[in-house]
Amino acid sequence: MEKDINWWKKAVVYQIYPLSFQDSNDDGIGDINGITSRLDYLKKLGVDVIWLSPVYRSPMDDNGYDIANYLEIDPIFGTMDDMKHLIHEVHQRGMRLIMDLVINHTSDEHDWFKESKTSLHNPKRDYYIWRDQPSDIGSVFGGSAWTYDEQTKQYYFHLFSQRQPDLNWQNPHLRQEIYAMINTWLDMGIDGFRLDVIDLIGKDIDEKKLSDGPYLNDYLQELYDTCFKGRDIMTVGEMPGLSIKRAQELTSGDDPLLSMIFQFAHISLDEVPGEGKWALKPLNLVEFKETFEKVQHTFYQKGWNSLFLSNHDQPRVVSRYGSELFRKESAKMLATILYGMQGTPYVYQGEEIGMTGVKFKSIDVYKDIETKQIYQILKEKGWQEKDIMASIYMKSRDNSRTPFQWNEEKYAGFSTHEPWLSVIPNYHDIHAEKDLQDADGVYPYYQHLIKIRKENEIFLHGDFKLILRDHQKIFSYIRTYGHQKILVIGSFSDQKMTIDLSPYQPIKIWLTNDHTIQLHDVMTISPYYTAIIEIGGK
Ligand code: NOJ
Repeated sequence: MEKDINWWKKAVVYQIYPLSFQDSNDDGIGDINGITSRLDYLKKLGVDVIWLSPVYRSPMDDNGYDIANYLEIDPIFGTMDDMKHLIHEVHQRGMRLIMDLVINHTSDEHDWFKESKTSLHNPKRDYYIWRDQPSDIGSVFGGSAWTYDEQTKQYYFHLFSQRQPDLNWQNPHLRQEIYAMINTWLDMGIDGFRLDVIDLIGKDIDEKKLSDGPYLNDYLQELYDTCFKGRDIMTVGEMPGLSIKRAQELTSGDDPLLSMIFQFAHISLDEVPGEGKWALKPLNLVEFKETFEKVQHTFYQKGWNSLFLSNHDQPRVVSRYGSELFRKESAKMLATILYGMQGTPYVYQGEEIGMTGVKFKSIDVYKDIETKQIYQILKEKGWQEKDIMASIYMKSRDNSRTPFQWNEEKYAGFSTHEPWLSVIPNYHDIHAEKDLQDADGVYPYYQHLIKIRKENEIFLHGDFKLILRDHQKIFSYIRTYGHQKILVIGSFSDQKMTIDLSPYQPIKIWLTNDHTIQLHDVMTISPYYTAIIEIGGK
């Protein structure tokens, strides 16, 4: 049995989207000092690691995922001194801080790109990807991935917005500059990175190999050797296009290239296959369960996985997989099902109080570049306004980017100034202050769940066996570690149901969202019921 494991395997990570977490200087935009002021709230929840979405200097075309200077803090977020103070305060509380590292592309306002654009012979020309002719590769945000530049009469490549030109990783000088920048941050005392779309850096554009391209392993190895090796840090690679097997390989061995990976096998199951994220289909729970089963089995004792359902790109879980009607119940159920598995849990800000998605009436209220672009594209394709908005309500990234709901004051205690993105009107009812005081609140439940997880090694090491495989409304599995067994169960139904647990010999409920239900072999469970039950059977 594995004894000495890396700290990040036991950690609970909390993602902060700085624009929307807490404003401290009354300009309607979240900032670093706002985050520092809320550290005790995170510590109390049981958070070990904070992942900060980008706070570097940026024109904010993609809310900071378009970096103009990697070594400066954007003034809307504060100063470098504020950042150092935040790192210090995080460490004082025994937590750690990882930053977002966006190195597949920069902003078009980065000095490298400004120079690259000036002439075909500029030394920085080759830091980006230029061609005489565009290919048919499309941008993730819609439209072509190529934009024509009048001055030098060539096209540059951008997999995201046209203001996010892709870096040419095949240039060794560029790679060295990036590594130096990374080492500067690590020397400053941060505890690691979340690496944005890092599966793309090994691409070969001409061969149309984008994710998991031919050079990915070499560049990750070089990055590891030059920056990560020998440091007490954690790294999590965002790899939307990578197979589960490859994700497992990259996190395996005594000296893995990355601590863990965000793989997305479970994320697009409510989309029509091959038609992108805006063409929706109802989630098939059996498919959902079997995908998690495959991931759990692939990573068992080989490599390491991260557990997430949402982030700043994904809709709120309650509205997506649960029920706004049974908001607290389904928020707790989804957390239990997810964090009962093996892997490092990620909590996205607001999930721990059961925040919901948003339905703004007009596209004008939305701020996300992807949402705005897709609105235009679907309009041009002839989609009806109501169908476009229905997709946006389900999938827009702004669902999870609305300001954090702290209390019932104006603007939900996020700011005293009108926020950059509107607060969801339900903040009168859903906010942290109320949830924390509610014995039945989502936050206290998360606290309990996190505590149980940390106290019982079965969550860390236990194997995973899916049960009730074909049940359309119940997600349930058994974890086994030595002689101990637990059964995790979650109902995805808004109806009561009867379940027969007699084959599993239930012994004791460790945690549940409905204490009125006694443990029996045959139980009638409430809508969105969840429990972790110690069992004696197989
Ligand atoms: C993934 C990030 O999570 C997303 O927000 C961003 O738009 C793209 N990468 C481009 O950086």
